Amino acid sequence: MVVDAKVENVHRVDVGVGRLIVDGTGAAVELPTRGIGSTERRHDGDEKVTGAAIYAAEAPPVGTLHGVLVGAPVARGQVRSIDARPALAQPGVVQVILPEDMPELGDVFVPPFAMSFIPMTDETVRYEGQPLAIVLAETLEQAEHGAALVAVDIATEEPVTFETGEVSTPVSEGNGYAFSALDTDHGDAEAALADAAAVVEADYVAPSRHHNMMEPSATLAEWRNGELHMHDSTQWTYGIRYALSGLLRMDPGAIHVRCPYTGGGFGAKGYVWPHQLLAPIAARIAGRPVKIAIGRDGCYTGTGYQPVVRSRIRLGAGTDGRLTAIVHETENVTSRFDDYVEFGSAGTRSLYACPNVRTSTRIVSADVNTPTAMRAPHEGPGMFALESAIDELSYDIGMDPLELRLANHAESDPHTGKPFSSNRLRDAYAEGARRFGWDARPPGTRARIEGHKLIGSGMAAAIMSTFRFSSSARVCLASDGTLRVEAGTQEIGTGTRTIFPQIAAERLGISAEGIDMRLGSTELPETGGTFGSSSTISVGSAVAHAADDLHQRLATLAGGEVPPRDQWADLLSRNGIAELIGEGGFTLPGEAAFDAHGGAGAHFMATWGAVFVEVEVDEGLGLARLRRCVACYSAGRILNPVTARSQMIGGIIWGVGRALLEESAMDPRYGRYVSKNLSGVHLPINADIPQDIDVAFIDEHDPHASAIGVRGIGELGEVGVAAAIANAVYHATGRRVRDLPIKFEHLIG
Ligand code: MOS
Repeated sequence: MVVDAKVENVHRVDVGVGRLIVDGTGAAVELPTRGIGSTERRHDGDEKVTGAAIYAAEAPPVGTLHGVLVGAPVARGQVRSIDARPALAQPGVVQVILPEDMPELGDVFVPPFAMSFIPMTDETVRYEGQPLAIVLAETLEQAEHGAALVAVDIATEEPVTFETGEVSTPVSEGNGYAFSALDTDHGDAEAALADAAAVVEADYVAPSRHHNMMEPSATLAEWRNGELHMHDSTQWTYGIRYALSGLLRMDPGAIHVRCPYTGGGFGAKGYVWPHQLLAPIAARIAGRPVKIAIGRDGCYTGTGYQPVVRSRIRLGAGTDGRLTAIVHETENVTSRFDDYVEFGSAGTRSLYACPNVRTSTRIVSADVNTPTAMRAPHEGPGMFALESAIDELSYDIGMDPLELRLANHAESDPHTGKPFSSNRLRDAYAEGARRFGWDARPPGTRARIEGHKLIGSGMAAAIMSTFRFSSSARVCLASDGTLRVEAGTQEIGTGTRTIFPQIAAERLGISAEGIDMRLGSTELPETGGTFGSSSTISVGSAVAHAADDLHQRLATLAGGEVPPRDQWADLLSRNGIAELIGEGGFTLPGEAAFDAHGGAGAHFMATWGAVFVEVEVDEGLGLARLRRCVACYSAGRILNPVTARSQMIGGIIWGVGRALLEESAMDPRYGRYVSKNLSGVHLPINADIPQDIDVAFIDEHDPHASAIGVRGIGELGEVGVAAAIANAVYHATGRRVRDLPIKFEHLIG
């Protein structure tokens, strides 16, 4: 089936999805009707929309106590006393757990624990919302009421924030949050800047934002025969096991974590946060199961956030547009106790061919919670800065922004010198520009006016780190002929349950129909976390190998050729086998557990994209709106165009939020977020998002990234969108906004 690559409106139309995969010249690529690449629908769609899917907080066993954390009301100080008596006097309140009730804890490993400080272990308040006590009650309402009555006396001190804190000297290398060199220096950027025909120098700010996933984090902890059983909403079941085995000094095998569904996460559920330690501790003390659901406000204090990143960019270029110098210095906020780094320059090192590149990563320690990864970490805030600066350079030298990027396209990784595993960004530029109609764009600003609206278009390149984790999986054939894929991995809404059976089906040469998927449990084969856009590449490869192993076992059993699918049950029963299990693993070069950018191998790996947008700006109202978006990606093989497209659209909407709406404003006087409820937080809603979002993927197979040819996509879609929108706003109005989100005051007057 070959279908037309031209899709007028892929966001609205029911996808005949072959159109989403193109060969770089605009021609559509033929798609298979089954297995990988076919448009298999989401297997768990029905369960989710009908409510049959059971999430962590939804099915507590009889006798479960509700735990509510009493959070510090100030960001900095010393606890003088905590009086639990008013809470204990309330009906239904069973117990209030105080710091003196805490057991002695073992080692904390960061990661998988999200932060090195464990609450309720001393008197110091380090951030607002820091847990100080746990109220346990028969009902949630009773626990919440009790928590409100716990009297905490704190000697308050003035908090330090990003605005008032000091910028660090270099961050210590080898801290748990760094996945590659923090500072890099190639050539002589200062000398090149001094000689450059054109120089752009500017500061850009991408503010702190919170994940605000649909399902706020929740956990249920139950002790049975000395073993811990948790039903958690997580992106990493095994991470919980490892974090808690250190802290609770337990055999990892005695900690059982299940998470059949995760209601979104975007990074907030990647590592392990205090409530996931406090619930099991409370359950052990109380002798009953304990559930802690941190709620929407808990998303602001109980887990992490994307920290504000200030980027200082300096670009030097010749009159031909060739970059001669790139300097990208970043500063992000972090807690006093953790040097969390947001690698704003991670992509900058590798996107453009330039002989003189210097990057630095600095932090500002403040009285705030530790940040964490949030879609898209690092490149998300960083590429807003770089890709805005490239746009500024294009106007300075009078060169089309796309031409300028093409003139600086890197043919191998400028930072490591390694060849790319695969990079079809050039094709993505061409295809995106063709679909968008970039050629028709007037070069100057304020060139298109419709009534009281200014119309502008802009573009940006996207680059996202490729992460891989060693992982394992099983494919099991039961004696009744049913097939099941098993892996410990989590489903955070990306389509995992759908694509892994597709992978197994393709390797086995059969239809994916009816292949079951079991995931989300430490009782299943170990995998890495569902973050860093790494699950498909890592777990998917393990599934492929497990299917190959099963195929081999079938062949052996049959004494040669594998018989047709409908004879497999017979084959097993003839041989008296109850279940035939294929096992597979994804192993990184050198047996590394984790790999960023292909670091363990001979190739540099990243994913790439070209984002084109059209905006309309009403300067009377101070309002900018996205009209349409075309995005084309080079991201490795696309296994399922339906779920892949959904991921990219989600990422693009995420980027629209960054560009136009989202900012977790902190009151610097108190070190507290101004709003911790969606009623006071601007997020994109349907009315903010145009129907016209056109996503395409360049047909690609990356043999170096994985046996199945894929890299990763979940976070890439967010990257570049904010810069493209800011660049389009400049094109529309001549107003350059370097401080996100783009607001009323940037556009009016
Ligand atoms: Mo993603 S922010 O690494 O869950």
